[in-house]
Amino acid sequence: MKLARKMPLVNDETLFVHLAAGDLDLASDSTAVSRFLDCCRLESLPKDPYGADKAGFDGARVSRYRRFTTCRFFPGERGRATCHGACGRLASEVGCLVPLDGPDAHRFYQSDAINRFQGNNYREWAGIEANMFPFLTRWASLLHSMVAWQRPYDTAVCRVGFHLIGYLAQPGETVSCSPEGAHHDGYAYISMLHLNTTGVFNGGDSVIFGSSETELFRTPMRQRFEAVVINDRAVKHLGTSMTAEPYARGMRMILVTTLHQDREEVPNTPYFDGNFE
Ligand SMILES: [Fe+2]
Repeated sequence: MKLARKMPLVNDETLFVHLAAGDLDLASDSTAVSRFLDCCRLESLPKDPYGADKAGFDGARVSRYRRFTTCRFFPGERGRATCHGACGRLASEVGCLVPLDGPDAHRFYQSDAINRFQGNNYREWAGIEANMFPFLTRWASLLHSMVAWQRPYDTAVCRVGFHLIGYLAQPGETVSCSPEGAHHDGYAYISMLHLNTTGVFNGGDSVIFGSSETELFRTPMRQRFEAVVINDRAVKHLGTSMTAEPYARGMRMILVTTLHQDREEVPNTPYFDGNFE
């Protein structure tokens, strides 16, 4: 996996980068891509129970499906074996993903300083399926190379969280995609990678906000492998509520990836919790 054209690093000046579907060159990754996409079906995602009993900030129902795994990412070193897990020869080329041990790998926490809808709660979901890891290793490696990582962490191990999220709306129904409103996730960098949308009449836009919640960028995100990579500390983001076609169920699936410094002592806590210096 590589970029088809030169892109700016994500840093304090650029704030975010938008990747159109054609910007991601997947020509040499066909096996990893097909194994990944085989798992990107709503039927293979468990229902996300959190928030399903209340409406989001926009008044719409929450209807989500999700898998989640946090890993350590060991950047690859050309010519050296760096595998710390089970990905074999792949590790020396693009790096290596190793899920955290035990339940820590699947637990997620945000304070209510950044998540007014579900903060101050541990949430736990089923883990990402093993068949997705060859693709995710390549995706983590690409993101790591795209962000202006703070020295000396540019070659150090980082923590990567993968949220595979599906949204489902009944015919004509509107569901909330970001029930907490415009928000930070609480990490150094995040990305949204669009995988599939069917039966959606409108909405589900990915929106990025600057200071005073001024809208900086908006995309309907309809192409597979379109993505945004975001400096999470500098800007807020939001997925707008989505409405299904009148006579079809609306479905949307995205992969949210978070990156931050590896810290042993706080395995589930985001890089920052709304504490802006
Ligand atoms: Fe978010």
